Amino acid sequence: MYPTAAGESVDPERFFVTIGGMHALQIAVRMVAGAGDEVILPTPAWPNFRGAFVIAGATPIELPMTLAGRVGKLRWQLDMERLGAAIGPRTRAIVVNTPANPTGWTATLDELTEILGLARRQGLWIIADEIYGRVVFGGERAPSFRDVMEPGDRILFVQTLSKNWSMTGWRIGWLEAPPELGPVIENLVQYSTSGVPVFAQRAAIAALDEGEAFFAHQLSRIRQGRDIICDGLGAIDRVRFARPDGAFYLFCSIDGEEDTRSLALKLVDEAGIGLAPGSAFGAGGEGFLRICFARKAEDMAEATRRLVAWLAR
Ligand SMILES: Cc1ncc(COP(=O)(O)O)c(C=O)c1O
Repeated sequence: MYPTAAGESVDPERFFVTIGGMHALQIAVRMVAGAGDEVILPTPAWPNFRGAFVIAGATPIELPMTLAGRVGKLRWQLDMERLGAAIGPRTRAIVVNTPANPTGWTATLDELTEILGLARRQGLWIIADEIYGRVVFGGERAPSFRDVMEPGDRILFVQTLSKNWSMTGWRIGWLEAPPELGPVIENLVQYSTSGVPVFAQRAAIAALDEGEAFFAHQLSRIRQGRDIICDGLGAIDRVRFARPDGAFYLFCSIDGEEDTRSLALKLVDEAGIGLAPGSAFGAGGEGFLRICFARKAEDMAEATRRLVAWLAR
């Protein structure tokens, strides 16, 4: 067992180094679902989840989340009854991305406990993507399945160095899984990439050992970015969004703008700002735009100014 900075003990046999979070996801998918299987995917969701299941021959069953609550207190909601009802004889796993790309939804401990209970009763795997778990704006970290799981629970954690340490281009991450799956995971790594370059592994160790000051700087920049965009758009009645609790995206809708793909293209041409159309994130994303606020404050302030000015025309 290794002690972590947070004082927990972790078994090194649970960790498998991968070429970024995407490779960890690929391996997780290979282990739980294949042709003819179904996987439940709450949406709006990072499009690569869907892609990873489709290329494995499995069918993602999208479960649209909804933006509910009163103005100023809106929150994305995962309907547990609908989640239960979406489980069928072919279902093999549930994907839980918290904090979420693109909505910023951050599951509460109660929500995680409920999802885990459902997965246990139904014999399902959970693919837990908690890569933004430390990018939160209240508290040290987001609630995690690690807080509620017991030995033997079927949970595969996707992780990466890409976000906390801005190492996307280094392509390094890890999969955390029950150690008895080790031989299978090692084969899947062997037959896909045959391993992870040593220099990237050394860089990851340096980031993990010495990257705290950098991470703290990143987080304060992300928090500033969030406040700038939320304050700017919060002042416009036409714009609806849940103030993100975690990750670095704002997912908003604008009254009177249904076709956000065309809108995103117009905003590139006419305001010089790049936003992602919500339809890219699956069911429930139509009519929304995703704004990434992991930018320095001056850039966020300028982008917010341009967006607000464009909307006011
Ligand atoms: C939710 C989520 N999971 C995983 C990843 C994968 O990151 P990478 O493959 O760069 O490690 C991303 C990247 O955007 C993401 O948003």
